[in-house]
Amino acid sequence: MEFLMILSITLLVSIFFAFLLFNKKPKNLPPGQMGWPYIGESLEFGKSGLKGEPEKFIYDRIAKFSSQVFKTSLLLQPTVVVCGPAANKFLFSNENKLVQVWFPDAVKKILPTTAQTSSYVESKRLRLMLPNFLKPEALVAYISMMDSIAETHFASGWEGKKEVTVFPLTKRYTFLVACKVFLSIDDPEHVATFADPFEVLAAGLNTIPIDLPGTPFRRSIKAANELRKRLVHIIKQRKIDLEENKASPTQDVLSHMLSVTDENGQPMTEIYIADKIIALLIAGHDTASAVLTCTLKFLSQLPHIYNEVLKEQMEIAESKKPGELLNWDDLQKMKYTWNVANESMRLAPPSRGTFREAITNFDFSGFSIPKGWKLLWSSHSTHWNSEYFPDPKKFDPTRFEGKGPAPYTFVPFGGGPRMCPGKEYARLEILVFLHHVIKRFSWEQLIHDEKIIVNPMSVPEKGFPARLIPHKA
Ligand code: HEM
Ligand SMILES: *[C@@H]1O[C@H](CO)[C@@H](O)[C@H](O)[C@H]1NC(C)=O
Repeated sequence: MEFLMILSITLLVSIFFAFLLFNKKPKNLPPGQMGWPYIGESLEFGKSGLKGEPEKFIYDRIAKFSSQVFKTSLLLQPTVVVCGPAANKFLFSNENKLVQVWFPDAVKKILPTTAQTSSYVESKRLRLMLPNFLKPEALVAYISMMDSIAETHFASGWEGKKEVTVFPLTKRYTFLVACKVFLSIDDPEHVATFADPFEVLAAGLNTIPIDLPGTPFRRSIKAANELRKRLVHIIKQRKIDLEENKASPTQDVLSHMLSVTDENGQPMTEIYIADKIIALLIAGHDTASAVLTCTLKFLSQLPHIYNEVLKEQMEIAESKKPGELLNWDDLQKMKYTWNVANESMRLAPPSRGTFREAITNFDFSGFSIPKGWKLLWSSHSTHWNSEYFPDPKKFDPTRFEGKGPAPYTFVPFGGGPRMCPGKEYARLEILVFLHHVIKRFSWEQLIHDEKIIVNPMSVPEKGFPARLIPHKA
């Protein structure tokens, strides 16, 4: 009894001193509220997205604290949300100087190799492994692959159907493309064996990382292990095929990764490569398919814009001989269509923003940011702001004509050294898909005023069920 008393007094005293010690706050933190203990404002943040009002969390606080910079607590981390083009520029240009990319704990646990080295080394390696994704010219070879995949995908998933749900179909398309371009797998049944565990994996990434039986997080870890096993198997086989000249060192992303060495001249391990492929599949999967789904939804309500896209695409379609595949020049002609996709990414950015971590104490906008705190840039803070996009809720692709948006206001792909390396690849697969869908159909929404929610990507709440109307021959 006495022992317990002493223990609790000691505890209290040490908590008191710990409080004094940690309460020596830097003087001038940004204004804001830290929310509930532990979970902070994570729920409010998440809910605003699920309600289809992702900007509200941000704009409410900007108004309340009269500041473009405010503190909060998200994903169990003290976080400073920074808004506006100056903030975007600051974060993007201080990568590895003041800040570094930070991944939530769930991601690190599901893909442990993400956390093995510093974020800086990871980023350098990733870019070494991905030259074909960085340069538009290097992607030329993928256009015809994407075109033939789209052809078979439309034949099996769309043609002859009266009604479809768009999001699962666009996901199937982007996944087929990824399996082909990353791994040279094009047998649909083989692809399907990857698609299922992959969905389970992806579902766990945005949950609270509690590793208990039955949680989406636990299922996600299991699915990642399963996928990793299968990929390692494919990697081992590829090594043999490369040695026996049965595979080419340039045929896909996997072959390329096998030829790259790390900073010390060592080849990457099989597990490491497997995790990088999984990471690419995650980064590229729901994003491009969400953009496609939102674009189709916007077009269903905007006949004049639909008609402009149709005109541009039919000119290209009519210039092709039967069976001739799309090429680089065709894609360069899809200017209006790309502006439409950009406008769709402005209004429904796949990413709400990404986190950085302060790697040192520094000042931003007159406030001190403590080392270790997280910073979050926000696409909605500029995309939906009338200062940069007049009448911001209006879908208007002509915003992207001429000089286009001011620097650092349109940021669907992030920016700086960590800007999305899949940007050009995404552009190609989006344009090829839009070509195929619009040359076959027009479509009507089946759910009146279906909301676009953020979960965590912007997508129509029910995946956009639509009625297909084939063009008359
Ligand atoms: C429309 C589709 C896409 C959008 C809107 C998008 C958006 C983004 C954003 C916002 C980031 C974070 C950038 C930052 O923090 O500054 C990112 C990172 C990344 N994206 Fe994409 N992405 C798309 C498609 C893809 C595709 C198709 C791939 C791969 C095939 C891909 C691979 C990656 C990778 C690997 C990263 C991490 C880069 C790093 O940490 O250095 N993305 N993307
Ligand atoms: C469309 O978006 C891409 C990606 O952010 C950008 O590079 C491009 O400049 C935009 N197009 C126009 C015309 O602004």
